[in-house]
Amino acid sequence: MSSQAKIIAAADLPAWRNRMRTENRRVVVTNGVFDLMHRGHATYLEQAADLGDCLLVLVNDDASVTALKGPSRPIVSEQDRAAMVAALECVGAVSVFHGPVAADALRAAAPDVYVKGGDYTVDSLNRDEFAALQACGSAIKILPLVPGCSTTTIINRIMTPQTLFGTTGKAATLDERLAPIFGRRSVREFLPRAVEQREIAALLEAAMAAPSARATYPAEFIVLNDPGRLNAVAEFLPNGRFLAKAPLGLVVCGDLSRACHGELSYLIQDCSACIENLLVAAHLLGLGACWLGVHPNADRVAHLKEYFQLPESIIPISAIALGWPAKTPPPRTNYDASQVHLNDW
Ligand SMILES: Cc1cc2nc3c(=O)[nH]c(=O)nc-3n(C[C@H](O)[C@H](O)[C@H](O)COP(=O)(O)O)c2cc1C
Repeated sequence: MSSQAKIIAAADLPAWRNRMRTENRRVVVTNGVFDLMHRGHATYLEQAADLGDCLLVLVNDDASVTALKGPSRPIVSEQDRAAMVAALECVGAVSVFHGPVAADALRAAAPDVYVKGGDYTVDSLNRDEFAALQACGSAIKILPLVPGCSTTTIINRIMTPQTLFGTTGKAATLDERLAPIFGRRSVREFLPRAVEQREIAALLEAAMAAPSARATYPAEFIVLNDPGRLNAVAEFLPNGRFLAKAPLGLVVCGDLSRACHGELSYLIQDCSACIENLLVAAHLLGLGACWLGVHPNADRVAHLKEYFQLPESIIPISAIALGWPAKTPPPRTNYDASQVHLNDW
């Protein structure tokens, strides 16, 4: 018998059932979604078929799969799911049923034995389906599931971050809308040109627009445009000596007494958000900037606290060198798909 000939329209189920009766064949019925067939399905259907002479599989239509499993399902259409089930040797007949429950189809199919997978119990069967089975005098058999086999597992394996989000990240760098993100690079050489007051104000405003835990905004900014001051601060920063040659510098501090729950970690996170905003804003204005590490280096923190005579609760977090770029590093992505985890580690 061709697998297509095994597929029966819902309206033809009573006639099919009569034929089974005249042929004196014991009918086993099960129902399910069968979206992405796997070994668990095959094992379960083979075991079900062994319980009688002809196994009828009632397959959920597409609308009921969407209602049950969500808008991304089914992956395979009802016709194709029915065809795949029908192609199994152990399956005698397949019918797609419509609506959320299979009660009508079960009444028409009048199973001698009704089989369900092991995530169900007789008590958890749908009440309408259970009533239909009782009316037909069907025996009910729950079969164990094959562990580790599920359509959801297969979908999660296919939907890796690599396949979903790409392996290179090159698409994002080419997207004009994201140009300020990828174009922001650390600039360490500057033209001998002052940064104007309005640009400094814009940078500070951008910095203070950053998110802050519990909106406590604990960041404080020391603006340096005096060459003597820039030089002195550069002295404390072994990796930031070029600050001395920048027309503008900032020391970003945080007030621990204003940080969320008085926590240093929140203080650093809030200040870092400000710094990143400021760096991107500088790039958008055509300026160049470089983040210069201070905290948690104890020497640098102590030197800056001492130099600026900072109050007890004020902690220097970072410095920033700023100016008109003498050299502009090219935009780039650091995207690494191996650092992305989907729904799990
Ligand atoms: C917390 C922190 C501290 C940094 N400290 C320094 C520093 O002391 N000197 C420096 O030249 N760059 C410093 N940088 C800049 C990094 O070296 C730079 O961001 C990194 O090499 C990536 O290059 P990019 O900014 O051009 O993308 C620091 C960056 C961060 C986030």
